[in-house]
Amino acid sequence: MSILKCPVCGLGLTVENRALRCGGNHCFDIAKEGYVNLLSGSRAGDKTGDNKEMARSRRDFLNKGFYAPIAGAVCSLVEKYSDEGDSVLDICCGEGYYTDFLTKRLNRDFFGFDLSKSMVRLAAKRKCPARFFVANISSVPVRSGSVRAAFHLFAPFRADEFSRIISGDGVIITAVPGARHLYGLKKVLYDSPYLNDEKPPETDGLRLLEEVRVERTLTFGDRDDILSLFRMTPYYYHTPSRGMARLEALESLTAEIDVLLQVYAK
Ligand SMILES: C[S@@+](CC[C@H](N)C(=O)[O-])C[C@H]1O[C@@H](n2cnc3c(N)ncnc32)[C@H](O)[C@@H]1O
Ligand SMILES: [Zn+2]
Repeated sequence: MSILKCPVCGLGLTVENRALRCGGNHCFDIAKEGYVNLLSGSRAGDKTGDNKEMARSRRDFLNKGFYAPIAGAVCSLVEKYSDEGDSVLDICCGEGYYTDFLTKRLNRDFFGFDLSKSMVRLAAKRKCPARFFVANISSVPVRSGSVRAAFHLFAPFRADEFSRIISGDGVIITAVPGARHLYGLKKVLYDSPYLNDEKPPETDGLRLLEEVRVERTLTFGDRDDILSLFRMTPYYYHTPSRGMARLEALESLTAEIDVLLQVYAK
């Protein structure tokens, strides 16, 4: 737990009787699934992060390996930019697919966090050798300079927090949806779909080291997979009823993965 710090007073945390406790006597229970809620204050993680249905859809979809090319590329970058035993953080880890994938291939000290308790609970249930906690990206409860590599996929970006947590030789690996990412799905949902603008995040104070593009064309022949994919995208929140009807009538779908992975350092 060496990289974690108390979200209330900032002191280090140690394990004590199924809880994490700091020198200032703030105490955080280890849930039965093994994760720890490190959100300071009383805000329940499920109200602001993704809900249970989205969490399960994401898990079911990713477990089928459709996004394995993305996970493989992230894994290669983490391997390149860190060494055995280094601390690696999955920022906004969701239900833990990517953390799980990397723990099977690399010998690192893995941590994952997300604002949604439903997501973190599913991540902890994967039983991979990683520690999961509930936290907000605006105030990550890890010590400054303690993370050698962090990856951050399809979630909000916070350049100031990311620079604070990585070590002097550390990196942040982030994913920018490419122009054609899931265009085949958008064509079904919208009458006039747009290409993504491929806008990189606001990265003040960070410098770009490397970019890797991951492109594939996927065909989904199973309606459950199509619906799970839809539920894990932002389109889930704003699709017109005409688009929903077209989606529900589909027997199969062809859609592209197009993701630009970017590596940043301080
Ligand atoms: C689209 S999902 C991506 C999850 C995972 N990285 C993946 O690719 O499977 C976005 C995630 O960001 C989390 N999230 C949103 N706002 C957050 C915040 N302020 N702090 C931490 N996590 C947040 C959501 O709960 C959700 O799990
Ligand atoms: Zn404390």
